[in-house]
Amino acid sequence: MRECSFAMIGVGNIGRRFLEIMSEKEQTLAERFGLRLHLVAVADSAGAALCEAGLSAERIIALKKGGASVAGYPDCGRRGMGAAEALERSGADMLVELSPTNLQHGEPGLASIVWALEHRMDVVTANKGPLVLEYQRLAHIAVQNGRSLLFSGAVAGGLPTVNIGRRDLVGAHVQRVEGVFNTTTNYILTRMADDGLSFGEALSEAQACGVAEANPSLDIDGWDAANKLVILANSVLGMPARLGDVTVHGIRDVQLEDLIRAKQQGNAIKLLVSAVSEGSSYRLSVGPTELPGHHPLARLTRWQMAVVYHTDIMGTIAAIIDDEGTTATAGAVLRDVINTLNRRDETRVKRGVA
Ligand SMILES: NC(=O)c1ccc[n+]([C@@H]2O[C@H](COP(=O)([O-])OP(=O)(O)OC[C@H]3O[C@@H](n4cnc5c(N)ncnc54)[C@H](OP(=O)(O)O)[C@@H]3O)[C@@H](O)[C@H]2O)c1
Repeated sequence: MRECSFAMIGVGNIGRRFLEIMSEKEQTLAERFGLRLHLVAVADSAGAALCEAGLSAERIIALKKGGASVAGYPDCGRRGMGAAEALERSGADMLVELSPTNLQHGEPGLASIVWALEHRMDVVTANKGPLVLEYQRLAHIAVQNGRSLLFSGAVAGGLPTVNIGRRDLVGAHVQRVEGVFNTTTNYILTRMADDGLSFGEALSEAQACGVAEANPSLDIDGWDAANKLVILANSVLGMPARLGDVTVHGIRDVQLEDLIRAKQQGNAIKLLVSAVSEGSSYRLSVGPTELPGHHPLARLTRWQMAVVYHTDIMGTIAAIIDDEGTTATAGAVLRDVINTLNRRDETRVKRGVA
């Protein structure tokens, strides 16, 4: 049996769902992958809990669902202990980093990821902040330390945007990437076009059903999609892109009449993410775009996201996900954990370690 001790920072929507899935799949992980995961440290905004023998996922989920901090974990809780100290004292060999995305300084995720990679831990994260701000540095630190840094949940949750690009398109030149990477804007534009709702009505509905944040500007103004494009450009297209390299337009100015007229003509207006090959680099943009009805992204329903890769030798490849809720992103975190541990084994085999 392969044992993995991991530390987890952030036990919010994704972290909790990840722990639930990990428990639900305990038997599958053991039988199919010979894997046993032990949560040895966990931190939230108010404290941490540490236990070398392993913390109970069920107990942590119960604490968080009851509105308490993990610091309330009997005997193992440490009120006020920060993520950094919890990580340093954890003895874990993997970090699962799921704290909030911060695009100003990337913390607390950035420092935790750097520390983990420099101290022989593999890292799995869905946190966009550190990747948008410091992708090249983090990838370099991971390589220098022989560690794995996986983040497939950071670019459109469970949709395998990064994995298709890095694994399945090996040897191909990506001529163009197109995507719909933001559920909030897709929900709003689809409700407006299909049902004639105003922008304000569609936004309120998206907030009421939990898809849009109370402050939705990151989504509505296109920045969330742009962040994902920056991560994709760095990790798949080999372009050391920054947010300033992306031309960004949000959906605030999209008119209901235009959405309805496009629909009547068999087209659809979507918040399109696009990277177009130009010389040795790519032109990056995010903006509302009218797509012809035969385009794979024109047919997306309100809960869907998708990516389309146009390549030189592998044709055009599209993937679509129905992403209602947090399960697919939490599932992507589990996918990254399993892939990390499989990679460890491949490395050991290559080195001739039994
Ligand atoms: N939600 C999605 O659908 C989705 C999809 C893709 C990627 N992501 C990314 O995944 C990450 C987690 O998302 P989420 O929806 O689970 O976020 P969330 O619900 O806001 O949870 C964030 C967690 O981080 C904890 N936290 C905040 N500040 C901290 C600090 N200084 N030290 C340690 N822990 C801290 C919070 O503690 P408390 O519990 O004490 O508040 C909470 O447990 C984010 O980076 C997000 O951008 C989310």
